[in-house]
Amino acid sequence: MTSHQPPQARYDVVVVGSGIAGLYAALQAHEHGSSVLVVTKGSIDEANTRYAQGGIAAAVGPEDSAESHWQDTMDAGAGLVDEEAAHVLTSEAADRIADLVRYGVRFDASDGEVSLGREAAHSHSRILHAGGDATGLEIELSLAGLAQREGVTVIEHALADGLLRDSAGRVSGIDVFDWRGSIGLRFEAGAVVLATGGAGQLYRYTTNPPVATGDGIALAYRSGAEVMDLEFTQFHPTALRLPGVPVFLISEAVRGEGALLYNTRGERFMPKYHPLAELAPRDVVARAATREMAETGSDHVLLDITTRDEDWLAARFPQIYRTCLDVGLNLAHDRIPVSPASHYTMGGVRTNIWGETTLPGLYAVGEVACTSVHGANRLASNSLLETVIFAKRAVQRILEDASGGIAPTPDARSLPATHDGVPVPGADEVRALMWDNVGIERDGARLREAVDRLAHWQAAFEAATRGGLVSRAQHELRSLLTCGRLAADAALAREESRGAHYRLDFPEPREEWRRHLVYRAW
Ligand code: SIN
Repeated sequence: MTSHQPPQARYDVVVVGSGIAGLYAALQAHEHGSSVLVVTKGSIDEANTRYAQGGIAAAVGPEDSAESHWQDTMDAGAGLVDEEAAHVLTSEAADRIADLVRYGVRFDASDGEVSLGREAAHSHSRILHAGGDATGLEIELSLAGLAQREGVTVIEHALADGLLRDSAGRVSGIDVFDWRGSIGLRFEAGAVVLATGGAGQLYRYTTNPPVATGDGIALAYRSGAEVMDLEFTQFHPTALRLPGVPVFLISEAVRGEGALLYNTRGERFMPKYHPLAELAPRDVVARAATREMAETGSDHVLLDITTRDEDWLAARFPQIYRTCLDVGLNLAHDRIPVSPASHYTMGGVRTNIWGETTLPGLYAVGEVACTSVHGANRLASNSLLETVIFAKRAVQRILEDASGGIAPTPDARSLPATHDGVPVPGADEVRALMWDNVGIERDGARLREAVDRLAHWQAAFEAATRGGLVSRAQHELRSLLTCGRLAADAALAREESRGAHYRLDFPEPREEWRRHLVYRAW
């Protein structure tokens, strides 16, 4: 356990997770005089945020407007974006960017003007970035450093195990498992803020780090909060794909700077799939790459940015340039083998635009949450933006002490109990099943198989751990099984294709499915 201050028994606010959403929420609450505890599964700066490359979207350019950003967000989300949430997101963007600058984040600028990159499905250049392609790292290290200097109490290597409820049913604290010391800790809290990120690790190939196992979504679901939209996982089209080399994100910003995609026969393929070609929405590019890989019998397609000069590439994309060089590829001379990989969880704990969940006293912000601001398909670089927009509002609501929680959904579904009788799976088996059966292209038969296997695996896991969970790996497997079941069940139920959810047996969107699938454990 690492605590930069001796922990107290009670805090005004307990934040779970230390990516941009958690640290920003903690800093905001601390700034307003609240006592704050941050609990984080790894070290303070080990979060998905640090791997974000492209940047953070905000309509701050002279030709741009919040309305245009709103429209792009709505269009990408394929009919499921909450209009009000998207208005909040796009109209409050500039103020939140100013907060980040105040917290020490240095965005790239040239001639005194902030540099704005272009990414897919944005009608303007509106992506602020830092250190070229090291935006997430700059944000993570700035906020973590500030939290430490400000004396925010942080407990590292510990994960949230359960929520405490008072006699009125309000969330009043948290049970924590310190997985290094194998001890349980309990903290009372005025409010608990989940900021644990998404569930990218559900899939065999992912751009997400090992910490992204959907812990907050699973915790919220088993505590009785509603979760929503878990059939919508975003697959990033261009992750480095080389045998024996870890999956590594090759930012969409590279396509924004002119990179083209070719199949292994040397044919440029995107123009035949979408008028915006390489800058089509992310789901379209990911599916097109998948089809080209199937047609050419290859496990990758090729990304080509060799039209750009090497010095420029090394300055604009230093992390990507260096990572490729380390594996023998020079961005300026070589086409880069890439393939899709899971990248972002659009669904999560159901919240309103104040981060409130259906459990009074429990808030969720960032990728763990589902405000519906991304609908069925998130617009590039709206994820970092979303974290600060809704974390700010959640803290505002906590300070007002007004959270009654949001009303439950009348027709929420729940996962049925089932029987064991199969061996407990390893996390890699879960990931392989999710990739093969609940991946970029789905169909009823494979989804049904996934639903059944996951249910049996979960029952076997529960039977085997009845005496309590004793390791981080067990906690993570429990989260993966819960999130996997929710994703597979919802994907099977949604008999249409929309955004990132593509059913080979229902290839078109259907008007009756322009709605959300909500789950709540009974
Ligand atoms: C990227 O740099 O391509 C990722 C940005 C994002 O996921 O929004």
